[in-house]
Amino acid sequence: MKILGIETSCDETAASVIEVTGKNGIKVLSNIISSQVKLHAKYGGVVPSLAAREHVKNIGHVFNYALKQAGLLKFGFNRLDLIAVTRGPGLGPALLVGLTFAKTISWLHQKPIIGVNHLEGHIYSNWLSPVAEISKKDFPALNLIVSGGHTELVLMKDHGQYKIIGETMDDAAGEAFDKVARLLDLGYPGGPAVSARAEQFSISNFQFPIKFPRPMKKSKNFNFSYSGLKTAVLYKIRELKNDGIKLTVSIIDEIAYAFQEAAIDVLVQKTIRAAKEHNVESILLSGGVSANKLLRSELKKNATKMGIKYFQPPMEYTGDNAAMIAVAGYFTYLKNKKTDYKSVKIDANLAI
Ligand code: KG4
Ligand code: ZN
Repeated sequence: MKILGIETSCDETAASVIEVTGKNGIKVLSNIISSQVKLHAKYGGVVPSLAAREHVKNIGHVFNYALKQAGLLKFGFNRLDLIAVTRGPGLGPALLVGLTFAKTISWLHQKPIIGVNHLEGHIYSNWLSPVAEISKKDFPALNLIVSGGHTELVLMKDHGQYKIIGETMDDAAGEAFDKVARLLDLGYPGGPAVSARAEQFSISNFQFPIKFPRPMKKSKNFNFSYSGLKTAVLYKIRELKNDGIKLTVSIIDEIAYAFQEAAIDVLVQKTIRAAKEHNVESILLSGGVSANKLLRSELKKNATKMGIKYFQPPMEYTGDNAAMIAVAGYFTYLKNKKTDYKSVKIDANLAI
């Protein structure tokens, strides 16, 4: 079975073709992503109307390229069995572009279409790992989804069965990385920049004992809070400036290091505690922040120590992509084969 995935929820225009053989044998035939990061960087964040305009400009090319790389261009649509498209959450104008494109193909070529939840897509990026096969035995699973817009702990009893057990009360973890990057003048998106600077820090460079708070680490529930941590970084920068201390490269590295330690510590400790309390078989990490090396290694280390299986998406599928949407579409389709292109609608605030 060949599935076309389309993703336009934020600032990446993406199309992918995957092939499912047998029950779960997933092969990515193409995974094309056109990023608008450079365009939005000068505004310090994604501008919805600009994102939609770029999606309109790029989606045809991205789609053609995805078919070509999958070896399907000469066969046209005959060999596609299903279309999976992100319907939310995300930026309304951006979502509309992908959905309209996908619906048009569905209608024109009489192919079934599935509307996919973007967060569910991130969860299913774990099924794209060539080295780790997730099976029924791994349920119930605990998902830690960490992106620019979300920080959620989601209990997954089976395919398509989700329960949110914790979420951020304010900023998302990725958003905190982006805001701290802005405070340190490191550009957008901030996650990769902050973590690269943090990696530069070594104890031998140690100048000031900088330590940031771990908001809600000890709270009994599984919710998170990141706006206080970002404000603590802001106050530290002000304090250093007021003391006449220049923000040199090594001080910026140290602030990035201390911030990353705090941000990741809370994510890891709360996830492990939730996994124990809910007696899960496995932990699945996903979302853009899952590219963070410290998060990957700490979560793996702590889960393994507890005897809980741990999965993470391959690096190339951590950010927004359409292969993960195609996989999520496939598992949704397995549960409910009734699809109707008229009923697929966008929902910018779609919850999992
Ligand atoms: O999932 P994603 O690509 O888009 C959304 O759905 O939001 O996530 C993007 C977020 C951004 O906030 C970005 O700064 C963050 O993921 N990110 C990282 C890293 N790479 C990307 N955060 C921390 N460390 C990273 N290495
Ligand atoms: Zn995302």
